[in-house]
Amino acid sequence: MPRNGYLRYEPSIEQPRPDEAKTIEAIVASIERTNVSSLAKHHRAIRQQHAKGQGFLRGELTVYDDLPNHLRQGMFATPRTYPIIVRLSTALGDIRSDRIRLPRGMAIKVIGVSGPKALPADNSTNQDILLVNHKSYFSDAAAYLSAQRIVFELEPRVPDFLLRLSGLLARGLVKLSNCTGIPIPMILNAIGDSGNNILGESFYSEGAIRFGDYVAKLCAAPNSESVLKFRGQPSFRDDSSVLNAVVEFFKKNSAEYELRAQLCTDLQRTPVEDASIDWPEEITPYQPLARITLPPQAADGPARRAYADDRLSFDPWRCLADHQPLGSIMRLRKEAYRKSSDFRRKPPTTEPTEPQHISEFPD
Ligand code: HEM
Repeated sequence: MPRNGYLRYEPSIEQPRPDEAKTIEAIVASIERTNVSSLAKHHRAIRQQHAKGQGFLRGELTVYDDLPNHLRQGMFATPRTYPIIVRLSTALGDIRSDRIRLPRGMAIKVIGVSGPKALPADNSTNQDILLVNHKSYFSDAAAYLSAQRIVFELEPRVPDFLLRLSGLLARGLVKLSNCTGIPIPMILNAIGDSGNNILGESFYSEGAIRFGDYVAKLCAAPNSESVLKFRGQPSFRDDSSVLNAVVEFFKKNSAEYELRAQLCTDLQRTPVEDASIDWPEEITPYQPLARITLPPQAADGPARRAYADDRLSFDPWRCLADHQPLGSIMRLRKEAYRKSSDFRRKPPTTEPTEPQHISEFPD
């Protein structure tokens, strides 16, 4: 343990269960089944999760120049400004009315990050960062498999009114849990999303990543008054509340978020294999890494939507070796995202799908 109190990364931090490969195989097969059924429903291949694109943005990520040594890791080792593409989304594998309150996603593609990659097949120079507005997730691949079979395979067949009813019940239980401290299953937190304006939300990696010499979770939080004012503001009154709010905002305004890292201290209180446990911020607070700036722009339009929804993929395993995803839930994502995005982009295109320059992102 180094003197700063943070756990040093070493491969033995990961402890896969002996049956993990089989569990992942079953999950990927189930994801393929839902890909096929949603293609039949929509006559267009959509993402198996976070199917609804809610704003497509260009911006910049600036690594702070005064980071302490323990945060100068991987892509944050050198102060620099990178171009980024951001896809905002709402969760689940069907395209639903925004009256149904669902977890919100922020996927960031950082363009031009150099260094050895986590996967040899990744020949891009991009670093993808995938975040959701909830801190924790299913514990591991085994827990995810039950949810995949019960919730995600059924979900596209569940009518809107039933999902709204489940949301109402789940929100009641979330409130009760907040008052009493009695924990509830993570899935209820997700279904019971408060439905607040996506621009005022904080977004979390939920699972851990390697952070150079250390191990971390990431978060992006609103940092300019322009978006801080939306914290806790409801946004679920009509079918397209989320996208409308984003498009309207970026017509005239800019937004700033701060990317932060929460470092692992020990595998008991800040575990890597169990993504359902929030790492306590009183033990290890989120520390600033970089500024994300998103200038005024047209956040939606046919060309941007076609590019970001259909052609691009965001994948937690498109990353530097220094930021390799860690733990059961994160290992599971390696196969799942590749299969889902290959399915969406069939027939395989010979053109490179990863942007090499921000100018490839349509205006
Ligand atoms: C650690 C927690 C997770 C977070 C924070 C997360 C976040 C996200 C986000 C933000 C997106 C939308 C990406 C985009 O805009 O293109 C996404 C897509 C997706 N997620 Fe996750 N996710 C998590 C766990 C998982 C797990 C465990 C699975 C399944 C094994 C999964 C399967 C998928 C799939 C298949 C897609 C669509 C990929 C594509 O077609 O491009 N996710 N996720």
